[in-house]
Amino acid sequence: MKFFIDTANVDEIKKALALGMVDGVTTNPSLVSKEARPFPDILKEICSLIEGPVSAEVIGLEAEGMVGEARELVRIADNIVIKIPMLEEGLKAVRLLSAEGIKTNVTLVFSAAQALLAAKAGATFVSPFVGRLDDIGQSGMELISDIMTIYRNYGFTTEIIVASVRHPMHVLDAARIGADIATIPYKVIAQLAKHPLTDRGIQQFLADWEKRQK
Ligand code: E4P
Repeated sequence: MKFFIDTANVDEIKKALALGMVDGVTTNPSLVSKEARPFPDILKEICSLIEGPVSAEVIGLEAEGMVGEARELVRIADNIVIKIPMLEEGLKAVRLLSAEGIKTNVTLVFSAAQALLAAKAGATFVSPFVGRLDDIGQSGMELISDIMTIYRNYGFTTEIIVASVRHPMHVLDAARIGADIATIPYKVIAQLAKHPLTDRGIQQFLADWEKRQK
């Protein structure tokens, strides 16, 4: 299972890289707006740190504008993937970009039907938002399972990025069903490493070591 980190913060990316936990990066306009620097500068630095895919989202809502933004963004680095919102215009843009060999990540996906259309349009990645679905009482992980079944039925190569991950159980559930990728906030990566019995065990070992006969 690949781990992407869901952030535009370079320090978080460096910390996760040191743990060997970064196969790629996803950003979005909300994450980028938390950073003080211009978007192209942030992307340039992220892409200098990461060999894997780095998703950068377009702002336009019309296919033509999205394609124009995408062409600019891919000039920043070879590993940029263009994040396109799940709209009819977005699907048009995905089709045009995939014909140009530009990789895409269809974002804000909340149904299996949307994921099917994204794959048919030629998306490289699709990002179903599990946390936001759970928030409204629908099962995000069931959606991932459904998309996996549909893609398997027809041999689509579009990779599924489990997105809007809020806690370690999302990552574990995604791993259990064999999802390709989870994009995870740094906080959740850190939570995955933690267990209270590990901490208690370390304290006990150190206390016993101090008491030993010298
Ligand atoms: C995915 O690519 C998005 O950037 C992200 O996972 C959205 O997460 P949120 O629902 O916590 O904002």
